[in-house]
Amino acid sequence: MATAMAGQLQGRVAMITGAGRGIGVGIANVLASRGAAVAVCDLDGAAAEETANAINTGGGTAIAGAVDVTDPDSLEHFAGRAISELGAIDICVPNAGVIGGPGFASRKDFTKEDWEMTFAVNVHGVANTTEAVKEHMKDRRQGKIVIIASHGGRKPRGIGDRGRGTSQQPYLVSKAAAIQLTHLLAIELGSFNINVNAVCPGRLWTPMWEAIAINHKALNPTYAELTPHEIFIQQIKATMPLGRPQTPEDIGKTVAFLASDDASEITGQAINVNGGAAMD
Ligand SMILES: NC(=O)c1ccc[n+]([C@@H]2O[C@H](COP(=O)([O-])OP(=O)(O)OC[C@H]3O[C@@H](n4cnc5c(N)ncnc54)[C@H](O)[C@@H]3O)[C@@H](O)[C@H]2O)c1
Repeated sequence: MATAMAGQLQGRVAMITGAGRGIGVGIANVLASRGAAVAVCDLDGAAAEETANAINTGGGTAIAGAVDVTDPDSLEHFAGRAISELGAIDICVPNAGVIGGPGFASRKDFTKEDWEMTFAVNVHGVANTTEAVKEHMKDRRQGKIVIIASHGGRKPRGIGDRGRGTSQQPYLVSKAAAIQLTHLLAIELGSFNINVNAVCPGRLWTPMWEAIAINHKALNPTYAELTPHEIFIQQIKATMPLGRPQTPEDIGKTVAFLASDDASEITGQAINVNGGAAMD
């Protein structure tokens, strides 16, 4: 069984954005451990290099680059490098995302910059990433696209979602758009044997959630005595039937499944990996 999983993505090539830290690193590590060569990129090129170096040192194959997903040229250049250096792109994982504009954690209200940044990265960035690989995948009549959205992009959970800190309205609307883009790309690309799905993570202790917890602590007197990490854990216990945070590797394992032949009949779906916090 372990051997079969190790070879689950043998011979495939995966391109992953936002793979300099957090969830993107977990996805890169899991896909590499299942046999895929990975092309990892991030706005922070040095961080992407670190991800790739660790994979190469561990016996995998990885290349890295500095990419801004809001810039189609930078994505096209990196996709071209992945194809020429690793042979093809079989799997594309648009993962890069932002919670808001600069200073989100210390602001009371969301701003125009939050709308602009979340839509530039979480929506246009995802569209730009898929555009960079689409024609290549269509020519080869094969491909797996797995978009990292959020369970927050599904239906809101009523007033329980109100008032913990600065409203995440721009972020949550951008993630709903990413899920809708998943559906539309699945329809567009299905006849080319390209599967397009989304993974919707719940809560993971990455720099993104640390910023949210700092924001909740600053704005909500209920949390005055708690550390940001304690706030994170308290909210998990209050909302998740499984009562624990997810890890970047948990997200990577679901991406690996959706990118594998085992999921060849799954397309246009958005899969929650959220400990049961939202059941939609
Ligand atoms: N952490 C969570 O609880 C959680 C929950 C649901 C969904 N998500 C989603 O998962 C994805 C990864 O989140 P994370 O928690 O690892 O976030 P993170 O902030 O820890 O990491 C995001 C990475 O994306 C990169 N990035 C940002 N803008 C970029 C750009 N313009 N071009 C290229 N790279 C860019 C950053 O440099 C960083 O390395 C995001 O799409 C996020 O919305 C996270």
